[in-house]
Amino acid sequence: MNRRKFLTSTALAAAAPLVVTQFKLFGADTPSNKLNLALIGTWGRGEAHFSALATQNVVALCDVNEEHLAFGAKHFPNAKTYVDWRKLLDDHQALALDGVVICSPDHTHAFVSNWALNRGLHVYCEKPLANTVEEARVVRANYLKNKSKLATQVGTQRHEFQNFNRLRELIHDGVIGELSLAYAWGNRQLRRPGYLPAAGEPPSNLHYDLWLGPAPFHPYNPGYFSGGSGANCLQWNMYWDFGNGQVGDMGSHTMDLVWNVVDAGLPTAAEAKGEAFNPEVSPVTLETHFEHPANNWRGPIHVGWYQGGAMPNSPKAYIDLTKIDHGAMFKGTKGFVVADFTSRIILPFGDESDLTYYKPRAKSEVLPPMGGFQKEWFDACKGKLKTSCDFEYSGHMIEQMLLGLVAYRVGKKIEYDGAAGRVTNAPEANAYLSRQYREGWTLNG
Ligand SMILES: NC(=O)c1ccc[n+]([C@@H]2O[C@H](COP(=O)([O-])OP(=O)(O)OC[C@H]3O[C@@H](n4cnc5c(N)ncnc54)[C@H](O)[C@@H]3O)[C@@H](O)[C@H]2O)c1
Repeated sequence: MNRRKFLTSTALAAAAPLVVTQFKLFGADTPSNKLNLALIGTWGRGEAHFSALATQNVVALCDVNEEHLAFGAKHFPNAKTYVDWRKLLDDHQALALDGVVICSPDHTHAFVSNWALNRGLHVYCEKPLANTVEEARVVRANYLKNKSKLATQVGTQRHEFQNFNRLRELIHDGVIGELSLAYAWGNRQLRRPGYLPAAGEPPSNLHYDLWLGPAPFHPYNPGYFSGGSGANCLQWNMYWDFGNGQVGDMGSHTMDLVWNVVDAGLPTAAEAKGEAFNPEVSPVTLETHFEHPANNWRGPIHVGWYQGGAMPNSPKAYIDLTKIDHGAMFKGTKGFVVADFTSRIILPFGDESDLTYYKPRAKSEVLPPMGGFQKEWFDACKGKLKTSCDFEYSGHMIEQMLLGLVAYRVGKKIEYDGAAGRVTNAPEANAYLSRQYREGWTLNG
């Protein structure tokens, strides 16, 4: 430190107590610059956040399962504990809370996110951000209102893999010519006939009514809770009232490979085909297709999502796309790029695709690594405000995916007015944009 800097910093330090006492003395304003955070869902996916959260102050924990709450409290013994996230948020001022990390099941995500944003809190929410088009729109609108002061991130943490940047560079730099089509797919298949039957009383450590939360009542069955830590979502996320199957699950991660490249907003049309509709369980085999208008660097494109055995055609028989469990493919006027989360292949197509039109970018122009997905959000909360998967980017992405389920429900191509959030050619489709919640639960509270 040179002398001038030393004098400036000591002068500031001397003046600091006079100034700082007038402001918040906790969270991001403390000299340690740590955030005061709450973790909602303290086992399972929540556990995967423990080490990142340990770099901040975890001041509150919430879980509807008291054993899971105790598990979280072992790691964060100074945190106040809650079984109802609404009570925790009621206490946000007393807790001097800066933000929340939401790792509870899908049917709570938009609720907790909205309530937290409405109370001036930063939000990290596990994927999927929403379960219906309406939820996606409300949570996005709440974020956009607060964008100048609040940071959001959806938990699609694979986004930090550098392959995301490499794909963006290749396609924006024209390796396949003009982009016309982008597909993502996932082959996970979890088939269930319907909601589980009533099977006894919930254990005394589980607040089952709070677990149901805004979802319509379904009787307790231990099967909803029989998965291992971090994988229990696969016991309930296929049931419509708790999730939307692979659309929100691996669809959130894998469509992100496409979304990070295409710079799309909301589609103007959606179409779907899949197995017969089951009113209790979301489809396993499904494909959904979307039309997106041109933007400032590309023409109109078609985006598609395939799951549960439905697959796009391979550009060449010698590339077996089914060998890629979760993948993406981009088609342009001069070829294809096929990718999984960590690697990609370029397939120039035809004799004219000699690649002379493509100039790899200079090292200095290569997109920098993200440097940690949770850290990006922590830094954003502390003032940078910039995250890669904020509720605008991820909100548009999940709205598109959920619109695919609406097209699936009505069984025809739907035209969508994204500004109004209405289907314009099939009035019956608008009923599927939202859901009924149990009495006493408010989405935008
Ligand atoms: N980003 C990823 O790679 C990834 C991986 C796994 C799961 N997830 C997501 O994380 C979320 C949780 O998945 P999981 O497998 O841990 O599920 P889970 O069923 O194990 O639930 C996680 C925890 O939340 C608690 N919980 C349930 N309802 C709650 C409520 N209303 N309030 C507070 N706590 C509540 C549960 O008791 C449990 O301790 C899901 O939305 C899932 O999509 C993301």
